[in-house]
Parts: sequence; C-alpha cells; structure tokens
Amino acid sequence: MNRLRLGVNIDHVATLREARKTTEPDPVTAAMLAEGGGADQVTFHLREDRRHIQNRDARLICEMAQTKVNLEMAATPEMQEIALAMSPDSVTLVPENREEVTTEGGLNLLREGERYASTVKALKDGGIRTAAFIGPDKAQIKAAAKLGFDAIEIHTGEYANASRRGPGDTLRAVQDAATAGTRYGLHVHAGHGLTYHNVHPIVLIPEIEELNIGHSIISRAVFVGIEQAVSEMVALMIR
Ligand code: PXP
Repeated sequence: MNRLRLGVNIDHVATLREARKTTEPDPVTAAMLAEGGGADQVTFHLREDRRHIQNRDARLICEMAQTKVNLEMAATPEMQEIALAMSPDSVTLVPENREEVTTEGGLNLLREGERYASTVKALKDGGIRTAAFIGPDKAQIKAAAKLGFDAIEIHTGEYANASRRGPGDTLRAVQDAATAGTRYGLHVHAGHGLTYHNVHPIVLIPEIEELNIGHSIISRAVFVGIEQAVSEMVALMIR
C-alpha cells in the first residue's frame, strides 16, 4: 500500500477574496489549514492578470509553508523572475489565456520549444524542480523530456468531464500517458477537474506520484472546513 502526494490548490480562496477586493478569506491561512489537514504540498497559480492569487500571497506562502510549494505559472520573463526570487520547491508551467475561466488545455511544447527550454534551465539553475502541464499526448510527453523538464502533470480535464457518464477512452489516455512519461524518465503528476467522486481510477494508476486538486476541495471546504475537506481527500490517495 502506498499513498500519492496531494497538492491542494488554494486559488479559489483568493477568488472569493478578490470578488470583494478585501482581505478575507486569506489564501495564506487556507494554505496553513490545508497542511494541517494533511496536504503534502500547497499549489497556487500566480496568473499574469492577478485575478486571484497576488504576489503577497505567493511570497508569504513560500516563506511560511511547512510542506512543499508548487507555483503554477506561464513561461514569461516576469514570472521567471518572481519564481527565482520566491524559490518555491517546484514550478509547473501552464498555458495562460486571459479569456479562460480556468486553465483549459495543456501546453503545446512542440511550438516555442526554445522558450520553454530556457525557462526550464533558468529554474533548474535556481534549484527549482519543473513540471509541464500537458494533455495526455505522447508527442508532448516526448517533447517535455527533450526540453529537460523533471516531471509532467497530465491534464485530466477530459477524463473529468467524461467521468460522470463513464470515462470511455479518456481514462486509458491518462494511463497510457503516465506509462509513457515514466518511460521517458519523467516524474508523473496529474490534475484538473478531479473530485472526491472521480479521483479513484486516477489514484490507481501506479506511475502517478502526485495529484493537484483545487476546486472540489475548496468547494467542500465551504461546508466542512478546509482541514476536514483536505483530510477526506488525503484518505482517497491510498492505493
Ligand atoms: N493543476 C493545474 C496545472 C491547474 O492549472 C489546476 C487549475 O488551476 C489544477 C491542477 C487544479 O484544478 P481543479 O481546480 O480543477 O482541481
């Protein structure tokens, strides 16, 4: 029996604060409570438009976290500078589109490969581990290995959307991507759209070491509190 690492994405706590442009609820407090509930990692996305997490949140979480910190960000010079200054344990590079409600798809590493390679190198030189958020696509996985990433985070959005009616080919796609990632020597993470109800088949994929989950945990936390919501998800990480 072993247990996957759970990264808790606390962006939505900041979304609620930003709805009023006030000081509460504080995502830094949420991060500390998530750790109290058994999270292995605090994950957040510092977006270029700062729609939820602000620099202050990122900085304080990097300083205060007792577990690991995973910063999701776009591969831009500004974000690279921030990451090197704040020194999270890992950076997950994600695509960013200003119009989107959430991160809709994975990176296209076949385009602008040199840009990603230089960001990966700069982060690694700064002692930060790197992951590429990509769809379950073999060409992207191969490119991630070639560009020097330490890990891939497989985008589980299609699986999550399909899972209520039966996942069909979408689960097999995640399984195959996880196997391919390991073959290329990459660590394998997964995330997006995972819930208390659909996470189990993903947990059973042996190559996956880490899941990053936000919306479902923070939604449940509204009713039962963050520590309880996180500890319930932690209990589902066992395989
Ligand atoms: N992983 C990455 C790279 C993400 O961009 C997100 C969404 O911010 C998540 C995981 C968490 O997704 P969800 O909020 O749907 O659990």
